Amino acid sequence: MKKSNPSFFAQIFFSIMGLILVLGVLFSLNSIIHLRRMYFASVRRELVSTSEAFSRIYKESEISLFSMDSLLKKQYHDGGIRYTLIQPDGQVIADSHNDIDAMDNHKTRPEVRHAFASGWGYEVRFSATEGVHHKYVARRNNDGSITRTSRPLDQLLDSLWSYTASLILLFLFLGGVGLSLSFFLSRWISRPIEILKNRAEKLGEGDVFTPLADRRVSREIMDLSRILDRASQTLKKRFTSVRTHKDRLRTILSEMIEGVVAVNAERELFLINSRARQMLDISSDTSQGREYYKIIRHIEIQQIIDTLLAGDSVQTMIHEEVTLGRGENERIYRINGKALLDPGDVFLVIHDITALKRLENMRRDFAGNVSHELRTPLTSIKGFVETLKDGAITDPVQSVRFLTIIDEEVRRLNTLIEDILTLSRVEQQEEALSDNSADTERVNLCDFLNELYGLYTDRAKKYSVDLRKDIHLAPDPLVDIRPGLFSLAVKNLLDNAVKYSGENAVVTLRARERQDEYIVSVQDTGPGIDPVHHDRLFERFYRVDKSRSRHMGGTGLGLSIVKHIVSLHGGKIILESEPGQGSIFTITIHKPL
Ligand SMILES: Nc1ncnc2c1ncn2[C@@H]1O[C@H](COP(=O)(O)OP(=O)(O)O)[C@@H](O)[C@H]1O
Ligand SMILES: [Mg+2]
Repeated sequence: MKKSNPSFFAQIFFSIMGLILVLGVLFSLNSIIHLRRMYFASVRRELVSTSEAFSRIYKESEISLFSMDSLLKKQYHDGGIRYTLIQPDGQVIADSHNDIDAMDNHKTRPEVRHAFASGWGYEVRFSATEGVHHKYVARRNNDGSITRTSRPLDQLLDSLWSYTASLILLFLFLGGVGLSLSFFLSRWISRPIEILKNRAEKLGEGDVFTPLADRRVSREIMDLSRILDRASQTLKKRFTSVRTHKDRLRTILSEMIEGVVAVNAERELFLINSRARQMLDISSDTSQGREYYKIIRHIEIQQIIDTLLAGDSVQTMIHEEVTLGRGENERIYRINGKALLDPGDVFLVIHDITALKRLENMRRDFAGNVSHELRTPLTSIKGFVETLKDGAITDPVQSVRFLTIIDEEVRRLNTLIEDILTLSRVEQQEEALSDNSADTERVNLCDFLNELYGLYTDRAKKYSVDLRKDIHLAPDPLVDIRPGLFSLAVKNLLDNAVKYSGENAVVTLRARERQDEYIVSVQDTGPGIDPVHHDRLFERFYRVDKSRSRHMGGTGLGLSIVKHIVSLHGGKIILESEPGQGSIFTITIHKPL
């Protein structure tokens, strides 16, 4: 386990306490040594003067050397100082405290040796006889003998002990004072740092730093506080700019029409925009940061991500078309995937190309249909021309019949080509709707429909159809339309109604208005159309009864043209029909604002 660093408080506190301790010990040692030295000096002074006095007594007294011993024992035995007289040969001849016969030769005692050599000798030594340290002072007399005085140093120990005891007491007191002093000192120093630390901690969460305002705080701490303050301002600016950047990116991503998906090397989905969720059927509450295969359930997409994640440097880009869903819900996506080798992230950009694909298919179908529709009359023309060439031309009756058919087929071809051109013109205008409203005119709908009706009465008569009108509009029913195209649409409806309803049917051109729209409809009493055809009826070349349509000279493009014209006008077309009930085709178109 890692040992944690000591706190600032503890560092200061223990440093001060340590300092007090060291100083205290040094002080005590010093005073004890000093005391000892002073004591020794005083003992030595005392012994020197006693030694001198002893020498004087020895020199001046008339008594014999032998009675000296008993004199010393009598007079000085009980005093603290011991007197010893030693002959130049080292033999002790008098001693105030001990029996001289039991004493050995003192010549080798260090203080005695020194005194013999230089006149004085000093020594501190442990005396085995008395069990304490002694201080010895020896002096050489004129006759070569040595007078030695000594005293035990037990007093020294006593006074050192009592001194130490008082030192300990002093220390306890000083320690107590030092403890509280260093406690408050450490707190005083470490408190602002603690506060700074707490405030700085919040910086990480994006808070702004509040600088210290306390005047008692030291200058360095104030500087530190100011530096942190400045750093926090810079940080905040960075935070804001990063956040703005992120928001912008998020907005761009969410507004994109392409889906964007990103997966990291740990297979976690770390980015998915709302378009991608919608494309891949992911409910928006599934959180990001989970494994992608738990969220994206489509095996085709998973495989693409897997391939990219496998990350061999060859396959860093994938462009693939993927079809998801079936039938009505079928969607076709083009997926551009890229692996970034360094962090190992994988990005997918998903384009919805369903509409594009459908359009492509429709164009292809249309091209096929057109060539087919063109080939039928052409084959027929070619056939009759060949028959004529092969000799039929000589037969006047046959040739007139064949030429009439050829003429009809040519007319049919012409209509077909005209219809195709109309359709492509309307489609072009639809695509360029916004910038091509120049052809629009404001016309009176009532006059417009009456004129159309007038044009159709003859044709209706030809098919023995009763054409009626039922136009009920408020005065001046103005409408913005492209007159040529809009009349083409209504004409196509009237044409169908007249052509397919059979003899004696009634066809009615009707007009009404609602709040903001006009309703123009063509109703017939014809055979009606089975609802199974309703959806496809407006597709190109779709006919209910192909041979009947051909016989009537139809191309199968009429209703498709109507649908596109109506949508170009921003309107709607609705069909209501049942077999045997007749049909109603209804166009609704907005009134001008
Ligand atoms: N009023 C109608 N009554 C019955 N059938 C109709 C009517 N209008 C259209 N149809 C059917 O819809 C088909 C498509 O019409 P349309 O697109 O105008 O092509 P065309 O008239 O050239 O055949 C026609 O072939 C016909 O079968
Ligand atoms: Mg038609």
